[in-house]
Amino acid sequence: MSEQSVATYLEANRDRHLEELLEFLRIPSVSTDPKHREDVHRCAQWVADHLSGIGLEGVEIHQTGGHPIVYAEHCKAGDDAPTILIYGHYDVQPPEPLEEWISPPFEPRIADGKIFARGATDDKGQVFCHFKGLEAQLAVHGALPVNVKLLIEGEEEVGSDHLEPWIEAHAELLKCDAVVISDSSMFAPGLPSITYSLRGLMYCEVTVRGPGHDLHSGLYGGAVPNPINILSKLIAGLHDDEGRVTVEGFYDRVRELEAEECEAFASLPTSDEAFLKEVGAPATHGEAGYTTLERRWARPTLDCNGIWGGFTGEGAKTVIPSKAHAKISCRLVPDQDPHEVEAMLERHLKAHAPPSVEVIFKPHHGARPTIAERDNPTVRAALRALSRSWGTEAVFIRGGGSIPVVEGFERLLGVSSVLIGLGLNDDRLHSPNEKFDLENFFHGIETSAFLFEELA
Ligand code: BES
Ligand code: MN
Ligand code: MN
Repeated sequence: MSEQSVATYLEANRDRHLEELLEFLRIPSVSTDPKHREDVHRCAQWVADHLSGIGLEGVEIHQTGGHPIVYAEHCKAGDDAPTILIYGHYDVQPPEPLEEWISPPFEPRIADGKIFARGATDDKGQVFCHFKGLEAQLAVHGALPVNVKLLIEGEEEVGSDHLEPWIEAHAELLKCDAVVISDSSMFAPGLPSITYSLRGLMYCEVTVRGPGHDLHSGLYGGAVPNPINILSKLIAGLHDDEGRVTVEGFYDRVRELEAEECEAFASLPTSDEAFLKEVGAPATHGEAGYTTLERRWARPTLDCNGIWGGFTGEGAKTVIPSKAHAKISCRLVPDQDPHEVEAMLERHLKAHAPPSVEVIFKPHHGARPTIAERDNPTVRAALRALSRSWGTEAVFIRGGGSIPVVEGFERLLGVSSVLIGLGLNDDRLHSPNEKFDLENFFHGIETSAFLFEELA
């Protein structure tokens, strides 16, 4: 009976739910860009108003040293019922390069059964599924079978710097039995998945400084250090011929995969052929001795994200630049520590640079890797909700990306997170033409509505 009416409610409200998501997506809440500060605040207000509108209580916008945190709750199921904290983020990545978008990033477009917009899958579309799942339960039953708290932040895409101190200060308010997060992907279309491990992150910026100012490459070239040549050589030296990172100590804390996990990865329906089609590269590349899934989920990496310096304009200019820069990141796996890796890399670069240049190392944000248990009441409830909605058994996967607060919830609140990814790997998160499939949106809402029942 209850399934019938929740399903009926969802069916009857599909168009409105979609319209509301489009409204959410129109707010350019780009957290890294100071120009969008007002938009980020407006977005927090939109989330707060929306949560009040669907019947949540204690809705509050908490100001931080950075972007606001939206909190809301519905805790009327009694002390015996579990308390679930739903976490998500309303901030988005910058949309650039704009010219590669088929339609403007903040003017959502629906085509081929997909919603195209910045934030469509990461994370507005996914977190909105929970808003609507809650709305359906409250509208149909006037109550929730479990206690629910929501924490929706605006700084995930810039490392969640102000969130941890806020969680520490509000530990009592956030007290819960488990965290549920939809901010990752399913393994394949139609194959619901639970992500039990995320990689961590170390991000930094490196500047190599040579001459005090740019120099004529004819007058001085050959007798002065060229920072671009030197930085390129440093970066090239960060991997050996086997694809392993050469930074001393880098692998010291890396947990090797257990045979059972390798087998589970290998049993997932995928192939390198399909993977190459997805990424559009001619061949795979990575650490020798590991499969593509192992490389993406359970091995640490080091990547140059951007490199610049010198003359890059039209035509030619004969110049030895004074400086060269690179943004470098490492994806980390249990039990690596971002601060340790940061120190190792700084030491390595400084030790390998010639005395003719200065290496300036600037750390950015980081995240710790996480791995959670695959069998507890919340995980089992999530498995049931997923298979009820999608009509097929859910699988366990790992994720290659990072969500900084997951480790924070463990350390500060003593709770683990169940990651119910509702997106797809080809959603182009952080890229032009980000999208969210309507099928995933509507199944996501239904999964959320079912989850609250299954958790009870
Ligand atoms: N939602 C992603 C993380 C993600 C995506 C995990 C897909 C698993 C599967 C999140 O918004 C993100 O982009 N995180 C950043 C980290 C942050 C510190 C900038 C990342 O992974 O680069
Ligand atoms: Mn995200
Ligand atoms: Mn993201």
